[in-house]
Amino acid sequence: MGLTGAKYGCGEGTCGACTVLVDGVAKRACLIRVKDVAGRAVTTIEGLEREGKLHPVQEAFVSEEAFQCGYCTPGMILGAVALLAKNPKPSEQAIRQNLDAHICRCGTYPRIVAAVELAARGGKR
Ligand code: FES
Ligand code: FES
Repeated sequence: MGLTGAKYGCGEGTCGACTVLVDGVAKRACLIRVKDVAGRAVTTIEGLEREGKLHPVQEAFVSEEAFQCGYCTPGMILGAVALLAKNPKPSEQAIRQNLDAHICRCGTYPRIVAAVELAARGGKR
């Protein structure tokens, strides 16, 4: 389908690089069979922008420079989008707990947490 955003990492549900939203809920794509999402809404990172404008969580990741190689970033962002949909004002601890299952080999965790906090504040510093 030409969608290269979701990344293949561990292939066994432990790294989060392949995270997509299924009906708005963050899921590990590597553990889902295509037939199991028939008729459901599957959103990859490509599906977040609207009319050329990045999603606020994407904007916050750019603003905080919350990535280095970027391999984990699509999964991190989709995990954060799902978290904020459930809990629009998460505590730092809630952000850390929610994204705990996402691995960033570059170690940008502090910036990722800052980006999610920034998005939760509506982009206001
Ligand atoms: S590739 Fe799916 S969780 Fe790692
Ligand atoms: S930015 Fe490189 S793995 Fe997270």
